[in-house]
Amino acid sequence: MSVQLAPELRIEILSDRWVTQLAEIEQLSFPTPWSEKLIRDEIKKDYAFALGLTFGDQLIAYAINNLITDELHVLTLAVHPAFREQGHGAHLVDGLLTEARNRGARSVFLEVRKGNLPAQKLYERFEFCFIGIRKEYYSDNREDAFVLKRLIR
Ligand SMILES: CC(C)(COP(=O)(O)OP(=O)(O)OC[C@H]1O[C@@H](n2cnc3c(N)ncnc32)[C@H](O)[C@@H]1OP(=O)(O)O)[C@@H](O)C(=O)NCCC(=O)NCCS
Repeated sequence: MSVQLAPELRIEILSDRWVTQLAEIEQLSFPTPWSEKLIRDEIKKDYAFALGLTFGDQLIAYAINNLITDELHVLTLAVHPAFREQGHGAHLVDGLLTEARNRGARSVFLEVRKGNLPAQKLYERFEFCFIGIRKEYYSDNREDAFVLKRLIR
């Protein structure tokens, strides 16, 4: 007889089977979301990986990243809208910093919209520092991006 264990929150590397759910969350989260094909092609690259926070078969949150030499670049990151403001973003970023350290990264870089206060609050909590501005970085509304960096100690 097999025992059915209750699902639990897990941080895991996302394989191809998660891509449909990941693309759905992208759609719900960004004005110019990554397509399913783009995501599939990206995570095949040997320097790329997607990290997810899962609950059974449900994808709660994810980050798609590139590890280039000892720099981890976060390309896109989101929490499913139904699960926001419950600490899942923080759980994911915490897991991402651990994964970055395990892979030998010395620093993490990302861009965040100037007007995206929830995300800035999240990154502030993890001691990301402002290092510059990319003017009119986002094509949909020409919003500036803040470039943030976090050293891995
Ligand atoms: C930004 C995002 C990832 C935050 O995820 P989340 O699960 O809601 O975040 P958490 O519940 O873990 O909260 C983390 C911190 O952010 C703050 N925060 C989250 N949502 C907030 C909101 N709407 N307004 C103000 N602060 C907010 C929390 O207060 C918390 O800070 P604290 O610990 O100092 O109180 C989520 O809102 C999201 O997916 N947004 C759309 C996609 C996006 O903007 N991605 C980031 C691109 S750079």
